[in-house]
Amino acid sequence: MTQPVLKIRNLSKRFPVGGGRVVHAVNCVDLSIMPGETLGMVGESGSGKSTLGRVILRLLEPSEGSIEFDGQDITQLPKGQIRRLRRDMQMVFQDPWSALNPRMRIRDLIAEPIKLHVDLSRSERDDRTEDLARRVNLGSTYLNRYPANLSGGQLQRACIARAIATDPKLIVLDEPTSSLDLSVRAGILELLAEIREETKAAMLFISHDLGTVRMISDRIAVLYLGEVVEQGQTEALFETPAHPYTQALLSAHLPADPAFKVSRLVLEGEVPSPIALPTGCKFHTRCPVAIARCAREVPQAIQVPSGQQASCLRIPNGGNIIQRKEDV
Ligand SMILES: Nc1ncnc2c1ncn2[C@@H]1O[C@H](COP(=O)(O)OP(=O)(O)OP(=O)(O)O)[C@@H](O)[C@H]1O
Ligand code: SF4
Ligand SMILES: [Mg+2]
Repeated sequence: MTQPVLKIRNLSKRFPVGGGRVVHAVNCVDLSIMPGETLGMVGESGSGKSTLGRVILRLLEPSEGSIEFDGQDITQLPKGQIRRLRRDMQMVFQDPWSALNPRMRIRDLIAEPIKLHVDLSRSERDDRTEDLARRVNLGSTYLNRYPANLSGGQLQRACIARAIATDPKLIVLDEPTSSLDLSVRAGILELLAEIREETKAAMLFISHDLGTVRMISDRIAVLYLGEVVEQGQTEALFETPAHPYTQALLSAHLPADPAFKVSRLVLEGEVPSPIALPTGCKFHTRCPVAIARCAREVPQAIQVPSGQQASCLRIPNGGNIIQRKEDV
Protein backbone atom coordinates (compact mmCIF):
# COMPACT_ATOMS: atom_id res chain seq x y z
CA MET A 1 0.00 0.00 0.00
CA THR A 2 1.26 3.50 -0.81
CA GLN A 3 2.50 5.43 2.21
CA PRO A 4 1.56 9.07 2.73
CA VAL A 5 4.42 11.46 2.04
CA LEU A 6 3.30 13.49 5.04
CA LYS A 7 1.39 12.36 8.10
CA ILE A 8 0.85 14.67 11.04
CA ARG A 9 -0.85 13.59 14.23
CA ASN A 10 -2.20 15.72 17.05
CA LEU A 11 0.07 18.59 15.97
CA SER A 12 -0.08 21.79 18.01
CA LYS A 13 1.90 25.02 18.04
CA ARG A 14 1.67 27.51 20.85
CA PHE A 15 3.47 30.85 21.10
CA PRO A 16 4.07 32.22 24.61
CA VAL A 17 3.50 35.98 24.34
CA GLY A 18 4.42 37.20 27.82
CA GLY A 19 2.43 37.72 31.00
CA GLY A 20 1.67 33.99 31.08
CA ARG A 21 -0.43 34.34 27.95
CA VAL A 22 -0.19 31.80 25.13
CA VAL A 23 -1.35 32.01 21.51
CA HIS A 24 -2.86 28.66 20.51
CA ALA A 25 -2.05 28.98 16.79
CA VAL A 26 -2.42 25.30 15.76
CA ASN A 27 -4.44 22.83 17.80
CA CYS A 28 -4.35 19.03 17.58
CA VAL A 29 -4.24 18.76 13.80
CA ASP A 30 -4.33 15.37 12.03
CA LEU A 31 -3.58 15.41 8.30
CA SER A 32 -2.03 13.21 5.63
CA ILE A 33 -0.89 13.93 2.09
CA MET A 34 -0.31 11.12 -0.40
CA PRO A 35 2.51 11.20 -2.99
CA GLY A 36 1.55 13.47 -5.89
CA GLU A 37 -1.53 14.75 -4.09
CA THR A 38 -2.37 18.44 -3.63
CA LEU A 39 -4.04 19.32 -0.36
CA GLY A 40 -5.56 22.79 -0.23
CA MET A 41 -5.73 24.50 3.14
CA VAL A 42 -8.24 27.28 3.67
CA GLY A 43 -9.29 29.42 6.61
CA GLU A 44 -9.66 33.04 7.61
CA SER A 45 -6.69 35.25 8.41
CA GLY A 46 -5.12 34.14 11.69
CA SER A 47 -6.53 30.59 11.51
CA GLY A 48 -3.01 29.13 11.68
CA LYS A 49 -2.36 28.22 8.02
CA SER A 50 1.15 29.66 7.76
CA THR A 51 2.12 28.43 11.21
CA LEU A 52 1.02 24.90 10.32
CA GLY A 53 2.92 25.04 7.00
CA ARG A 54 6.08 26.12 8.79
CA VAL A 55 5.78 23.57 11.59
CA ILE A 56 5.35 20.78 9.03
CA LEU A 57 8.70 21.73 7.46
CA ARG A 58 10.24 22.22 10.93
CA LEU A 59 10.88 25.90 10.17
CA LEU A 60 9.05 26.29 13.49
CA GLU A 61 9.25 23.74 16.31
CA PRO A 62 6.02 21.90 17.15
CA SER A 63 4.73 22.20 20.73
CA GLU A 64 3.07 18.78 20.61
CA GLY A 65 2.26 15.94 18.26
CA SER A 66 4.19 14.18 15.53
CA ILE A 67 5.30 14.79 11.95
CA GLU A 68 6.11 11.84 9.73
CA PHE A 69 7.73 12.66 6.41
CA ASP A 70 8.24 9.94 3.80
CA GLY A 71 7.88 7.24 6.44
CA GLN A 72 10.34 8.85 8.89
CA ASP A 73 9.36 10.53 12.17
CA ILE A 74 11.01 13.97 11.89
CA THR A 75 9.39 15.56 14.96
CA GLN A 76 12.57 15.44 17.02
CA LEU A 77 15.14 15.20 14.21
CA PRO A 78 18.21 17.38 14.94
CA LYS A 79 18.55 20.57 12.86
CA GLY A 80 21.52 19.24 10.87
CA GLN A 81 19.52 16.28 9.63
CA ILE A 82 16.52 18.49 8.87
CA ARG A 83 18.78 20.60 6.66
CA ARG A 84 19.60 17.50 4.62
CA LEU A 85 15.88 16.74 4.31
CA ARG A 86 15.25 20.18 2.76
CA ARG A 87 16.13 18.61 -0.57
CA ASP A 88 12.87 16.67 -0.35
CA MET A 89 10.64 19.30 1.27
CA GLN A 90 10.55 22.85 -0.05
CA MET A 91 8.48 25.95 0.51
CA VAL A 92 7.23 28.80 -1.68
CA PHE A 93 6.33 31.89 0.35
CA GLN A 94 3.68 34.53 -0.16
CA ASP A 95 6.11 37.38 -0.69
CA PRO A 96 8.82 36.59 -3.28
CA TRP A 97 10.60 39.89 -2.52
CA SER A 98 11.49 38.90 1.01
CA ALA A 99 12.09 35.23 0.12
CA LEU A 100 15.07 36.02 -2.13
CA ASN A 101 18.43 37.51 -1.22
CA PRO A 102 18.45 40.87 -3.07
CA ARG A 103 22.25 40.74 -3.51
CA MET A 104 22.27 37.47 -5.47
CA ARG A 105 21.64 37.09 -9.19
CA ILE A 106 18.58 35.06 -10.19
CA ARG A 107 20.92 32.44 -11.70
CA ASP A 108 22.68 31.92 -8.35
CA LEU A 109 19.42 31.97 -6.43
CA ILE A 110 18.00 29.16 -8.57
CA ALA A 111 21.30 27.25 -8.44
CA GLU A 112 21.64 27.59 -4.65
CA PRO A 113 19.56 24.54 -3.60
CA ILE A 114 21.27 22.43 -6.32
CA LYS A 115 24.66 23.48 -4.95
CA LEU A 116 23.59 22.58 -1.42
CA HIS A 117 21.97 19.24 -2.13
CA VAL A 118 22.97 17.79 -5.50
CA ASP A 119 26.44 16.66 -6.51
CA LEU A 120 26.88 18.24 -9.96
CA SER A 121 29.78 19.83 -11.83
CA ARG A 122 29.60 23.55 -12.44
CA SER A 123 28.56 23.18 -16.07
CA GLU A 124 25.96 20.54 -15.21
CA ARG A 125 24.59 22.90 -12.57
CA ASP A 126 24.45 25.76 -15.09
CA ASP A 127 22.58 23.54 -17.55
CA ARG A 128 20.13 22.52 -14.86
CA THR A 129 19.59 26.14 -13.80
CA GLU A 130 18.78 27.13 -17.37
CA ASP A 131 16.50 24.16 -17.76
CA LEU A 132 14.65 25.14 -14.55
CA ALA A 133 14.25 28.72 -15.78
CA ARG A 134 12.73 27.34 -19.01
CA ARG A 135 10.37 25.09 -17.07
CA VAL A 136 8.98 28.06 -15.14
CA ASN A 137 8.85 30.21 -18.30
CA LEU A 138 11.44 32.67 -17.06
CA GLY A 139 13.43 34.01 -20.02
CA SER A 140 17.17 33.32 -19.80
CA THR A 141 17.87 37.07 -19.99
CA TYR A 142 16.54 37.35 -16.42
CA LEU A 143 19.10 34.93 -15.05
CA ASN A 144 21.84 37.55 -14.86
CA ARG A 145 19.62 40.13 -13.18
CA TYR A 146 19.03 40.87 -9.51
CA PRO A 147 15.63 40.49 -7.80
CA ALA A 148 15.02 44.25 -7.85
CA ASN A 149 14.99 44.12 -11.67
CA LEU A 150 12.19 41.55 -11.91
CA SER A 151 8.43 41.89 -11.51
CA GLY A 152 6.55 40.06 -8.73
CA GLY A 153 5.33 37.39 -11.12
CA GLN A 154 8.83 36.80 -12.52
CA LEU A 155 10.25 36.62 -8.99
CA GLN A 156 7.63 34.07 -7.95
CA ARG A 157 8.61 32.00 -11.01
CA ALA A 158 12.22 32.13 -9.77
CA CYS A 159 11.04 31.00 -6.30
CA ILE A 160 9.14 28.10 -7.89
CA ALA A 161 12.24 27.15 -9.91
CA ARG A 162 14.22 27.08 -6.64
CA ALA A 163 11.55 25.00 -4.97
CA ILE A 164 11.56 22.32 -7.70
CA ALA A 165 15.34 22.40 -8.29
CA THR A 166 16.01 19.35 -6.13
CA ASP A 167 12.94 17.32 -7.21
CA PRO A 168 11.30 17.51 -3.78
CA LYS A 169 8.63 15.06 -2.65
CA LEU A 170 6.60 17.80 -0.91
CA ILE A 171 6.22 21.52 -1.63
CA VAL A 172 4.40 23.78 0.83
CA LEU A 173 3.03 26.83 -0.98
CA ASP A 174 1.89 29.60 1.35
CA GLU A 175 -0.45 31.92 -0.58
CA PRO A 176 1.91 31.92 -3.58
CA THR A 177 -0.27 34.25 -5.66
CA SER A 178 -1.84 36.60 -3.12
CA SER A 179 0.90 39.26 -3.21
CA LEU A 180 0.81 39.37 -7.02
CA ASP A 181 -1.22 41.53 -9.40
CA LEU A 182 -4.45 39.90 -10.48
CA SER A 183 -3.21 39.89 -14.08
CA VAL A 184 -0.31 37.53 -13.31
CA ARG A 185 -2.02 35.24 -10.80
CA ALA A 186 -3.62 32.97 -13.39
CA GLY A 187 -0.26 32.42 -15.10
CA ILE A 188 1.38 31.34 -11.84
CA LEU A 189 -1.50 28.99 -11.05
CA GLU A 190 -1.27 27.43 -14.50
CA LEU A 191 2.45 26.98 -13.96
CA LEU A 192 1.87 25.29 -10.60
CA ALA A 193 -0.67 22.94 -12.17
CA GLU A 194 1.87 22.05 -14.88
CA ILE A 195 4.63 21.54 -12.32
CA ARG A 196 2.35 19.28 -10.33
CA GLU A 197 1.73 17.06 -13.38
CA GLU A 198 5.37 17.09 -14.41
CA THR A 199 7.10 16.53 -11.08
CA LYS A 200 4.42 14.48 -9.29
CA ALA A 201 5.44 16.35 -6.13
CA ALA A 202 2.87 16.42 -3.35
CA MET A 203 1.72 19.94 -2.50
CA LEU A 204 0.21 21.67 0.49
CA PHE A 205 -1.46 24.69 -1.06
CA ILE A 206 -2.38 27.36 1.48
CA SER A 207 -4.80 30.09 0.47
CA HIS A 208 -7.79 31.99 1.72
CA ASP A 209 -9.14 32.16 -1.83
CA LEU A 210 -11.55 29.28 -2.26
CA GLY A 211 -11.71 29.60 -6.04
CA THR A 212 -7.96 29.13 -6.33
CA VAL A 213 -7.92 26.22 -3.92
CA ARG A 214 -10.75 24.50 -5.76
CA MET A 215 -8.86 24.77 -9.05
CA ILE A 216 -5.67 23.20 -7.83
CA SER A 217 -6.51 20.81 -4.98
CA ASP A 218 -7.44 17.13 -4.92
CA ARG A 219 -8.51 17.47 -1.30
CA ILE A 220 -9.20 20.41 1.00
CA ALA A 221 -8.77 20.97 4.73
CA VAL A 222 -10.66 23.81 6.40
CA LEU A 223 -9.02 25.46 9.39
CA TYR A 224 -10.79 27.44 12.12
CA LEU A 225 -8.85 28.76 15.13
CA GLY A 226 -5.99 26.36 14.42
CA GLU A 227 -8.19 23.27 14.12
CA VAL A 228 -9.16 21.28 11.04
CA VAL A 229 -12.97 21.40 11.19
CA GLU A 230 -13.54 19.59 7.89
CA GLN A 231 -11.46 17.80 5.28
CA GLY A 232 -12.33 15.82 2.20
CA GLN A 233 -12.28 15.51 -1.58
CA THR A 234 -12.55 18.93 -3.24
CA GLU A 235 -15.80 18.37 -5.12
CA ALA A 236 -17.57 16.63 -2.21
CA LEU A 237 -16.58 19.47 0.11
CA PHE A 238 -17.80 22.12 -2.33
CA GLU A 239 -20.99 20.28 -3.24
CA THR A 240 -22.10 19.15 0.22
CA PRO A 241 -20.12 20.98 2.91
CA ALA A 242 -20.86 19.36 6.26
CA HIS A 243 -19.41 21.70 8.86
CA PRO A 244 -21.41 24.90 9.45
CA TYR A 245 -18.18 26.91 9.16
CA THR A 246 -17.40 25.41 5.74
CA GLN A 247 -20.97 26.17 4.65
CA ALA A 248 -20.50 29.80 5.73
CA LEU A 249 -17.11 30.12 3.99
CA LEU A 250 -18.51 28.72 0.75
CA SER A 251 -21.59 30.89 0.88
CA ALA A 252 -19.43 34.02 1.31
CA HIS A 253 -17.62 32.92 -1.85
CA LEU A 254 -20.79 32.66 -3.98
CA PRO A 255 -20.90 34.88 -7.05
CA ALA A 256 -22.74 38.17 -6.48
CA ASP A 257 -25.50 37.21 -8.87
CA PRO A 258 -29.07 38.08 -7.86
CA ALA A 259 -30.31 35.10 -9.88
CA PHE A 260 -28.26 32.80 -7.70
CA LYS A 261 -30.69 30.72 -5.67
CA VAL A 262 -28.92 30.46 -2.33
CA SER A 263 -28.61 33.53 -0.14
CA ARG A 264 -25.28 34.51 1.31
CA LEU A 265 -24.71 33.55 4.86
CA VAL A 266 -22.85 36.17 6.80
CA LEU A 267 -21.22 35.01 10.02
CA GLU A 268 -21.79 37.29 12.95
CA GLY A 269 -19.23 38.23 15.57
CA GLU A 270 -15.48 38.36 15.53
CA VAL A 271 -13.17 35.37 15.36
CA PRO A 272 -12.33 34.72 19.05
CA SER A 273 -8.77 35.35 20.23
CA PRO A 274 -6.43 32.35 19.95
CA ILE A 275 -5.21 33.40 23.42
CA ALA A 276 -8.58 32.62 25.03
CA LEU A 277 -10.06 29.79 22.98
CA PRO A 278 -13.80 29.12 23.42
CA THR A 279 -14.76 25.98 25.35
CA GLY A 280 -16.40 23.01 23.65
CA CYS A 281 -16.70 23.51 19.89
CA LYS A 282 -14.47 26.51 19.10
CA PHE A 283 -16.98 27.70 16.52
CA HIS A 284 -19.91 27.88 18.94
CA THR A 285 -19.67 31.66 19.50
CA ARG A 286 -20.44 32.27 15.80
CA CYS A 287 -22.25 29.15 14.67
CA PRO A 288 -25.80 29.82 13.38
CA VAL A 289 -26.95 26.34 14.44
CA ALA A 290 -25.20 26.09 17.83
CA ILE A 291 -27.10 24.48 20.70
CA ALA A 292 -26.32 24.51 24.43
CA ARG A 293 -24.09 21.44 24.44
CA CYS A 294 -21.81 22.98 21.78
CA ALA A 295 -20.27 25.21 24.48
CA ARG A 296 -19.45 22.17 26.62
CA GLU A 297 -18.55 19.26 24.35
CA VAL A 298 -15.58 19.06 22.00
CA PRO A 299 -16.75 17.50 18.71
CA GLN A 300 -14.71 14.63 17.25
CA ALA A 301 -14.16 14.23 13.51
CA ILE A 302 -16.73 11.90 11.95
CA GLN A 303 -17.19 10.74 8.39
CA VAL A 304 -20.27 12.02 6.57
CA PRO A 305 -22.06 10.15 3.73
CA SER A 306 -20.35 12.27 1.03
CA GLY A 307 -16.99 11.11 2.37
CA GLN A 308 -15.56 14.12 4.22
CA GLN A 309 -14.51 14.14 7.85
CA ALA A 310 -16.10 16.95 9.84
CA SER A 311 -16.16 17.89 13.53
CA CYS A 312 -19.66 19.00 14.47
CA LEU A 313 -21.87 17.59 17.23
CA ARG A 314 -25.04 18.06 15.19
CA ILE A 315 -24.06 15.92 12.18
CA PRO A 316 -25.71 12.71 13.47
CA ASN A 317 -29.21 14.28 13.44
CA GLY A 318 -28.74 16.60 10.44
CA GLY A 319 -28.81 19.77 12.56
CA ASN A 320 -25.46 20.82 11.06
CA ILE A 321 -27.09 21.98 7.81
CA ILE A 322 -27.78 25.71 7.96
CA GLN A 323 -31.26 26.48 6.64
CA ARG A 324 -31.11 29.61 4.55
CA LYS A 325 -34.05 31.86 3.79
CA GLU A 326 -34.54 30.52 0.26
CA ASP A 327 -34.39 26.93 1.50
CA VAL A 328 -37.31 27.16 3.91
N1 LIG B 1 5.67 34.27 16.21
C1 LIG B 1 4.44 34.43 16.71
N2 LIG B 1 4.24 34.85 17.96
C2 LIG B 1 2.99 35.00 18.46
N3 LIG B 1 1.86 34.74 17.76
C3 LIG B 1 2.00 34.33 16.50
C4 LIG B 1 3.28 34.15 15.89
N4 LIG B 1 3.10 33.73 14.61
C5 LIG B 1 1.77 33.64 14.43
N5 LIG B 1 1.11 34.01 15.55
C6 LIG B 1 -0.35 34.03 15.76
O1 LIG B 1 -0.84 32.73 15.47
C7 LIG B 1 -2.11 32.80 14.84
C8 LIG B 1 -2.04 32.09 13.49
O2 LIG B 1 -1.24 32.88 12.61
P1 LIG B 1 -0.92 32.46 11.12
O3 LIG B 1 0.00 33.49 10.56
O4 LIG B 1 -0.45 31.05 11.11
O5 LIG B 1 -2.35 32.55 10.43
P2 LIG B 1 -2.74 32.49 8.88
O6 LIG B 1 -3.91 31.59 8.79
O7 LIG B 1 -1.54 32.16 8.08
O8 LIG B 1 -3.20 33.98 8.59
P3 LIG B 1 -3.09 34.84 7.23
O9 LIG B 1 -4.22 34.37 6.33
O10 LIG B 1 -3.30 36.25 7.70
O11 LIG B 1 -1.74 34.61 6.63
C9 LIG B 1 -2.45 34.28 14.74
O12 LIG B 1 -3.25 34.61 15.84
C10 LIG B 1 -1.09 34.96 14.83
O13 LIG B 1 -1.22 36.25 15.36
S1 SF4 C 1 -20.67 21.53 17.22
FE1 SF4 C 1 -22.28 23.03 17.54
S2 SF4 C 1 -21.23 25.01 17.46
FE2 SF4 C 1 -19.86 23.48 16.59
S3 SF4 C 1 -20.22 23.58 14.44
FE3 SF4 C 1 -21.55 21.97 15.22
S4 SF4 C 1 -23.49 22.98 15.69
FE4 SF4 C 1 -21.98 24.60 15.41
MG1 LIG D 1 -0.54 33.14 6.54
